[in-house]
Amino acid sequence: MSSPLRIAIAGLGTVGAGTLKIVQQNAALLAARGGRAIEVVAVSMRDANKKRDVKLDGIRVEKDARALASASDVDVVVETIGGDEGIAREMVEAALNNKKHVVTANKALIAKHGLALAALAEKQGVVLAFEAAVAGGIPIIGALRSGLAANRILRIAGILNGTCNYILTTMQREQRDFADVLADAQKLGYAEADPSFDVDGIDTAHKVAILTSLAFGTAPNVSAVHVEGIRRISIADIEYAASFGYRIKLLGIATMEDGKLLQRVHPCLVPSASPLGVIDGPFNAVQVEGDAVGRVVFEGRGAGGGPTGSAIVADILAIARGDSYPPFTVATNQLLQATPAPLDAHQGSYYLRLSLKDEPGVLAEFTRAFAAEKISVHSITQRAIAADASAQVIVLTHQTNEAAVARAAKRIAELPISVAAPVVLRIEN
Ligand code: NAP
Ligand code: HSE
Repeated sequence: MSSPLRIAIAGLGTVGAGTLKIVQQNAALLAARGGRAIEVVAVSMRDANKKRDVKLDGIRVEKDARALASASDVDVVVETIGGDEGIAREMVEAALNNKKHVVTANKALIAKHGLALAALAEKQGVVLAFEAAVAGGIPIIGALRSGLAANRILRIAGILNGTCNYILTTMQREQRDFADVLADAQKLGYAEADPSFDVDGIDTAHKVAILTSLAFGTAPNVSAVHVEGIRRISIADIEYAASFGYRIKLLGIATMEDGKLLQRVHPCLVPSASPLGVIDGPFNAVQVEGDAVGRVVFEGRGAGGGPTGSAIVADILAIARGDSYPPFTVATNQLLQATPAPLDAHQGSYYLRLSLKDEPGVLAEFTRAFAAEKISVHSITQRAIAADASAQVIVLTHQTNEAAVARAAKRIAELPISVAAPVVLRIEN
């Protein structure tokens, strides 16, 4: 057997500790699969006195994580600190410059600086791997890179944030408030250091940008992702959606439409019994449509130390075996610069919840807004009188245009019969 592959782990929180435990617990199995022992030689964390559920016997603890990037006894630097700037970016750049392989779970870093880091890794002849950056334990990056590589990808859509899926499903099941459930997700180690990254859709946007690049062979462009989060989703909308056979999910979606790339993140209604509709709790799911294979669905735990550590260790094993590939599968100088598609031109069906005065003539008034925008309505249902005495009217549309729906919602909001601005959600069938 060859000499051990020597690993340094920067950051020993949920993901770093999860990674260390897998390397220690499955040592013999990993050595057999990688063809050489995997040995953690050094770690770094912010507070060396913090109590942690990990064994550090025989492992050097470095005060400054940067030291790992230049240590002569380290072959692979695993970055699990987080953040798209500061220490994480500095040490990843330093490690690559020092011809060390890098494995990271840091989707913010890869979505924003992945192209430059990939070019650096290519130049230095080392691996930059980030399976753990998208969908936790689901091997979606490996699948796009190899198992589905024969296909022209038509669409990729997924539940990519465990925190949001946990919040949305727990709100529905336990009738609990958003803030209360978010606190649980933080305690369970699913949420980002700044949980607004989760609930405002930013984390999903990072993941969409990475998947899009791998799926469509384009340079990652996170600034082109349309992003909406889940803060405005109420238990009322979750329940109304359920009564029509839908569940509300935060989806990340990428499609190539008329040669233009549309990347979007937003809450939407999906059929309750569909592959994405049935995904509960912190689980993630990714649905890929390829021209040859058709639809493939991947499902699994999207967050937490075990699942994310599993993805990191898979990347380490690939390095141990000597696998080598450009980080985004296609060499960085071959990645396409896609033109972003405007969301306004998107065609889809929509859910609108209108809060209207409960009085005669209201129906005639608000339906004029749909007629004026040539929106074909599928159904109109009055569901309840809310606490503010407004009638809650749910409108589901047929396929129509995004911009037309936005204009109709604005017209309705401006009517004297309107008690509150309409809630508009896309339906993804
Ligand atoms: P975390 O639990 O907050 O852990 C971060 C670790 O980094 C901590 O051990 C912290 O040290 C250490 N750290 C912070 N600043 C440091 C510094 N200057 N030098 C050395 N160490 C430093 O975060 P996490 O949840 O494991 O997430 C880590 C990364 O993985 C992030 O990029 C995140 O987006 C990504 N990720 C997380 C998950 C998940 O389920 N949590 C899943 C996929 C990807 P102390 O422990 O001493 O504070
Ligand atoms: N905060 C992220 C989530 C971690 O909740 O999905 C996994 O990337």
